[in-house]
Amino acid sequence: MKASSGNYRRLARVYRVLEYVAFGRDLERARFTLLPPLAAGERILIIGEGDGRFLQRLLQLNPRARIDCIDLSPAMLARARARIGAGARRVRFQAGDIRTVELAPAHYDAVVTCFLLDCFSADDCAAIIARLRTALQSNARWLWSDFALPAAGFRRWRARVWLAGLYTFFRWATGLAVRELPPAEKLIAAQGFEPVVARTWQGGMLRSVIFQATRADSPRPGVLHCDDTMTKPRCSHQIE
Ligand SMILES: C[S@@+](CC[C@H](N)C(=O)[O-])C[C@H]1O[C@@H](n2cnc3c(N)ncnc32)[C@H](O)[C@@H]1O
Repeated sequence: MKASSGNYRRLARVYRVLEYVAFGRDLERARFTLLPPLAAGERILIIGEGDGRFLQRLLQLNPRARIDCIDLSPAMLARARARIGAGARRVRFQAGDIRTVELAPAHYDAVVTCFLLDCFSADDCAAIIARLRTALQSNARWLWSDFALPAAGFRRWRARVWLAGLYTFFRWATGLAVRELPPAEKLIAAQGFEPVVARTWQGGMLRSVIFQATRADSPRPGVLHCDDTMTKPRCSHQIE
Protein backbone atom coordinates (compact mmCIF):
# COMPACT_ATOMS: atom_id res chain seq x y z
CA MET A 1 0.00 0.00 0.00
CA LYS A 2 1.24 3.49 -0.87
CA ALA A 3 2.02 5.95 1.95
CA SER A 4 -0.76 8.54 2.36
CA SER A 5 -0.12 11.79 0.50
CA GLY A 6 -3.09 13.34 2.28
CA ASN A 7 -6.87 13.21 2.12
CA TYR A 8 -8.11 16.77 1.55
CA ARG A 9 -11.84 16.07 1.93
CA ARG A 10 -12.05 17.85 5.28
CA LEU A 11 -9.78 20.71 4.26
CA ALA A 12 -11.13 21.52 0.80
CA ARG A 13 -13.64 24.11 2.01
CA VAL A 14 -11.29 25.96 4.38
CA TYR A 15 -8.00 25.51 2.52
CA ARG A 16 -7.94 29.03 1.11
CA VAL A 17 -8.73 30.69 4.44
CA LEU A 18 -6.05 28.64 6.22
CA GLU A 19 -3.41 29.64 3.73
CA TYR A 20 -4.31 33.35 3.98
CA VAL A 21 -4.12 33.17 7.77
CA ALA A 22 -0.69 31.51 7.66
CA PHE A 23 0.99 33.27 4.72
CA GLY A 24 -1.26 36.06 3.49
CA ARG A 25 -1.12 36.20 -0.31
CA ASP A 26 2.37 34.73 -0.63
CA LEU A 27 1.23 31.24 -1.65
CA GLU A 28 -0.82 32.85 -4.41
CA ARG A 29 2.21 34.88 -5.45
CA ALA A 30 4.21 31.64 -5.56
CA ARG A 31 1.54 29.99 -7.74
CA PHE A 32 0.77 32.84 -10.11
CA THR A 33 3.93 34.91 -10.58
CA LEU A 34 5.53 32.51 -13.06
CA LEU A 35 2.33 31.69 -14.95
CA PRO A 36 3.15 33.77 -18.08
CA PRO A 37 5.57 31.18 -19.55
CA LEU A 38 2.56 28.83 -19.77
CA ALA A 39 0.56 31.26 -21.94
CA ALA A 40 1.42 29.40 -25.13
CA GLY A 41 1.24 25.67 -24.37
CA GLU A 42 -1.73 23.83 -25.85
CA ARG A 43 -1.77 20.69 -23.74
CA ILE A 44 -1.17 21.30 -20.07
CA LEU A 45 -1.25 18.87 -17.17
CA ILE A 46 -1.99 20.07 -13.63
CA ILE A 47 -1.42 17.62 -10.80
CA GLY A 48 -2.87 18.27 -7.34
CA GLU A 49 -4.67 21.43 -8.48
CA GLY A 50 -6.57 21.96 -5.24
CA ASP A 51 -9.49 24.39 -5.23
CA GLY A 52 -9.14 25.72 -8.79
CA ARG A 53 -7.53 29.12 -8.28
CA PHE A 54 -4.51 28.26 -10.42
CA LEU A 55 -6.69 26.60 -13.05
CA GLN A 56 -8.89 29.70 -13.27
CA ARG A 57 -5.88 31.97 -13.88
CA LEU A 58 -4.42 29.61 -16.44
CA LEU A 59 -7.67 29.44 -18.40
CA GLN A 60 -7.80 33.26 -18.47
CA LEU A 61 -4.17 33.57 -19.53
CA ASN A 62 -4.13 30.86 -22.17
CA PRO A 63 -7.28 30.77 -24.32
CA ARG A 64 -6.08 27.80 -26.41
CA ALA A 65 -4.99 25.45 -23.66
CA ARG A 66 -6.65 22.09 -23.16
CA ILE A 67 -5.98 21.15 -19.59
CA ASP A 68 -5.92 17.79 -17.84
CA CYS A 69 -6.40 18.24 -14.14
CA ILE A 70 -5.62 15.27 -11.89
CA ASP A 71 -6.18 15.36 -8.14
CA LEU A 72 -6.58 12.63 -5.59
CA SER A 73 -9.38 14.51 -3.85
CA PRO A 74 -12.88 14.51 -5.41
CA ALA A 75 -13.77 17.35 -2.99
CA MET A 76 -10.97 19.53 -4.35
CA LEU A 77 -11.89 18.68 -7.94
CA ALA A 78 -15.52 19.63 -7.25
CA ARG A 79 -14.41 23.03 -5.93
CA ALA A 80 -12.15 23.57 -8.93
CA ARG A 81 -14.93 22.67 -11.37
CA ALA A 82 -17.41 24.98 -9.64
CA ARG A 83 -14.91 27.85 -9.66
CA ILE A 84 -14.24 27.85 -13.40
CA GLY A 85 -17.84 27.60 -14.66
CA ALA A 86 -17.95 27.54 -18.47
CA GLY A 87 -14.15 27.18 -18.63
CA ALA A 88 -14.71 23.52 -17.70
CA ARG A 89 -15.28 22.82 -21.42
CA ARG A 90 -11.51 23.01 -21.87
CA VAL A 91 -10.66 20.92 -18.82
CA ARG A 92 -10.68 17.19 -18.26
CA PHE A 93 -10.93 16.46 -14.53
CA GLN A 94 -9.73 13.16 -13.20
CA ALA A 95 -9.71 11.87 -9.64
CA GLY A 96 -6.59 9.76 -9.30
CA ASP A 97 -3.26 9.16 -7.62
CA ILE A 98 -0.36 10.55 -9.61
CA ARG A 99 1.72 7.57 -8.52
CA THR A 100 -0.51 5.14 -10.42
CA VAL A 101 -2.77 7.04 -12.83
CA GLU A 102 -2.26 6.33 -16.52
CA LEU A 103 -0.55 9.14 -18.46
CA ALA A 104 -0.36 9.47 -22.25
CA PRO A 105 3.29 9.30 -23.39
CA ALA A 106 5.01 12.47 -24.74
CA HIS A 107 1.69 14.30 -24.75
CA TYR A 108 1.94 17.54 -22.76
CA ASP A 109 3.61 20.89 -23.46
CA ALA A 110 3.75 21.72 -19.77
CA VAL A 111 3.11 20.33 -16.32
CA VAL A 112 2.21 22.20 -13.13
CA THR A 113 2.88 20.98 -9.60
CA CYS A 114 2.07 23.63 -6.99
CA PHE A 115 2.47 22.58 -3.35
CA LEU A 116 2.09 18.95 -4.39
CA LEU A 117 5.50 17.30 -4.28
CA ASP A 118 5.92 18.22 -0.61
CA CYS A 119 3.26 15.55 0.07
CA PHE A 120 5.66 12.74 -0.92
CA SER A 121 8.79 11.00 0.31
CA ALA A 122 11.98 11.50 -1.68
CA ASP A 123 11.54 8.05 -3.30
CA ASP A 124 7.92 8.68 -4.28
CA CYS A 125 8.82 12.16 -5.50
CA ALA A 126 11.60 10.76 -7.72
CA ALA A 127 9.23 8.15 -9.15
CA ILE A 128 6.50 10.76 -9.81
CA ILE A 129 8.91 13.10 -11.56
CA ALA A 130 10.19 10.24 -13.73
CA ARG A 131 6.59 9.30 -14.63
CA LEU A 132 5.72 12.88 -15.48
CA ARG A 133 8.82 13.17 -17.64
CA THR A 134 7.53 10.37 -19.87
CA ALA A 135 4.22 12.23 -20.33
CA LEU A 136 5.94 15.42 -21.51
CA GLN A 137 7.13 16.56 -24.91
CA SER A 138 10.88 16.87 -25.34
CA ASN A 139 10.74 20.71 -25.07
CA ALA A 140 8.18 20.90 -22.25
CA ARG A 141 8.08 23.34 -19.34
CA TRP A 142 7.47 22.56 -15.70
CA LEU A 143 6.05 25.08 -13.24
CA TRP A 144 7.00 23.96 -9.75
CA SER A 145 6.01 25.94 -6.65
CA ASP A 146 6.55 24.67 -3.14
CA PHE A 147 8.07 25.06 0.26
CA ALA A 148 11.85 25.00 0.44
CA LEU A 149 14.63 25.08 3.01
CA PRO A 150 16.88 28.13 2.62
CA ALA A 151 20.60 27.30 2.55
CA ALA A 152 21.64 28.57 5.99
CA GLY A 153 21.22 30.97 8.89
CA PHE A 154 18.13 32.37 10.55
CA ARG A 155 16.01 31.87 7.42
CA ARG A 156 16.77 28.14 7.42
CA TRP A 157 16.04 27.85 11.11
CA ARG A 158 12.76 29.77 10.74
CA ALA A 159 11.74 27.55 7.78
CA ARG A 160 12.48 24.41 9.79
CA VAL A 161 10.14 25.57 12.56
CA TRP A 162 7.37 26.44 10.07
CA LEU A 163 7.75 23.16 8.18
CA ALA A 164 7.66 21.08 11.37
CA GLY A 165 4.40 22.85 12.31
CA LEU A 166 2.91 22.46 8.82
CA TYR A 167 3.75 18.76 8.57
CA THR A 168 2.28 18.16 12.04
CA PHE A 169 -0.90 19.99 11.07
CA PHE A 170 -1.32 18.17 7.75
CA ARG A 171 -0.60 14.84 9.39
CA TRP A 172 -3.47 15.53 11.76
CA ALA A 173 -5.85 17.06 9.21
CA THR A 174 -5.22 14.82 6.19
CA GLY A 175 -3.31 11.76 7.39
CA LEU A 176 -0.21 12.82 5.43
CA ALA A 177 2.56 10.28 6.04
CA VAL A 178 5.72 12.28 5.28
CA ARG A 179 7.51 14.64 7.67
CA GLU A 180 10.09 16.41 5.56
CA LEU A 181 10.50 17.98 2.15
CA PRO A 182 11.79 15.84 -0.71
CA PRO A 183 14.64 17.38 -2.77
CA ALA A 184 12.17 18.13 -5.56
CA GLU A 185 14.23 20.70 -7.48
CA LYS A 186 17.24 18.41 -7.68
CA LEU A 187 15.04 15.50 -8.73
CA ILE A 188 13.40 17.54 -11.51
CA ALA A 189 16.83 18.68 -12.72
CA ALA A 190 18.00 15.04 -12.66
CA GLN A 191 15.30 14.23 -15.22
CA GLY A 192 16.84 16.66 -17.74
CA PHE A 193 15.21 19.98 -16.82
CA GLU A 194 17.00 23.30 -16.41
CA PRO A 195 15.62 26.01 -14.11
CA VAL A 196 15.18 29.18 -16.20
CA VAL A 197 13.42 31.52 -13.75
CA ALA A 198 13.25 31.24 -9.96
CA ARG A 199 11.44 33.44 -7.43
CA THR A 200 11.33 33.21 -3.65
CA TRP A 201 9.15 34.60 -0.86
CA GLN A 202 9.06 34.34 2.92
CA GLY A 203 12.83 34.44 3.26
CA GLY A 204 13.32 31.63 0.76
CA MET A 205 10.77 29.30 2.35
CA LEU A 206 8.45 29.60 -0.65
CA ARG A 207 9.89 29.03 -4.09
CA SER A 208 8.60 28.98 -7.61
CA VAL A 209 10.65 27.82 -10.58
CA ILE A 210 10.07 27.41 -14.30
CA PHE A 211 12.05 24.44 -15.56
CA GLN A 212 12.67 23.83 -19.23
CA ALA A 213 13.35 20.37 -20.62
CA THR A 214 16.72 20.35 -22.33
CA ARG A 215 18.41 18.07 -24.78
CA ALA A 216 21.77 16.82 -23.56
CA ASP A 217 23.63 18.80 -26.27
CA SER A 218 21.90 22.19 -25.76
CA PRO A 219 23.60 25.08 -23.88
CA ARG A 220 22.62 25.67 -20.26
CA PRO A 221 20.31 28.70 -20.10
CA GLY A 222 21.23 30.14 -16.67
CA VAL A 223 18.69 31.13 -14.03
CA LEU A 224 17.07 34.45 -13.19
CA HIS A 225 16.68 34.46 -9.38
CA CYS A 226 14.37 36.98 -7.72
CA ASP A 227 13.77 37.40 -4.02
CA ASP A 228 10.45 39.09 -3.26
CA THR A 229 11.04 39.19 0.46
CA MET A 230 12.67 42.57 -0.15
CA THR A 231 10.52 45.65 -0.65
CA LYS A 232 12.01 45.88 -4.14
CA PRO A 233 12.67 42.44 -5.61
CA ARG A 234 16.37 41.60 -5.92
CA CYS A 235 17.24 39.65 -9.03
CA SER A 236 20.45 38.09 -10.21
CA HIS A 237 21.27 36.03 -13.24
CA GLN A 238 23.67 33.14 -12.95
CA ILE A 239 24.65 29.86 -14.54
CA GLU A 240 24.36 27.15 -11.91
C1 LIG B 1 -1.27 20.93 -0.38
S1 LIG B 1 -2.53 20.74 -1.57
C2 LIG B 1 -2.00 21.87 -2.84
C3 LIG B 1 -3.17 22.38 -3.65
C4 LIG B 1 -2.82 23.45 -4.68
N1 LIG B 1 -2.05 22.91 -5.80
C5 LIG B 1 -2.09 24.62 -4.07
O1 LIG B 1 -1.28 25.23 -4.76
O2 LIG B 1 -2.36 24.97 -2.93
C6 LIG B 1 -2.13 19.20 -2.30
C7 LIG B 1 -3.10 18.79 -3.38
O3 LIG B 1 -2.59 17.62 -4.01
C8 LIG B 1 -3.58 16.62 -4.02
N2 LIG B 1 -2.91 15.32 -3.89
C9 LIG B 1 -2.37 14.78 -2.76
N3 LIG B 1 -1.86 13.58 -3.04
C10 LIG B 1 -2.07 13.36 -4.35
C11 LIG B 1 -1.77 12.27 -5.19
N4 LIG B 1 -1.17 11.17 -4.73
N5 LIG B 1 -2.14 12.35 -6.50
C12 LIG B 1 -2.79 13.45 -6.98
N6 LIG B 1 -3.10 14.51 -6.20
C13 LIG B 1 -2.75 14.47 -4.91
C14 LIG B 1 -4.48 16.93 -2.83
O4 LIG B 1 -5.77 16.36 -2.96
C15 LIG B 1 -4.49 18.46 -2.85
O5 LIG B 1 -5.48 18.98 -3.70
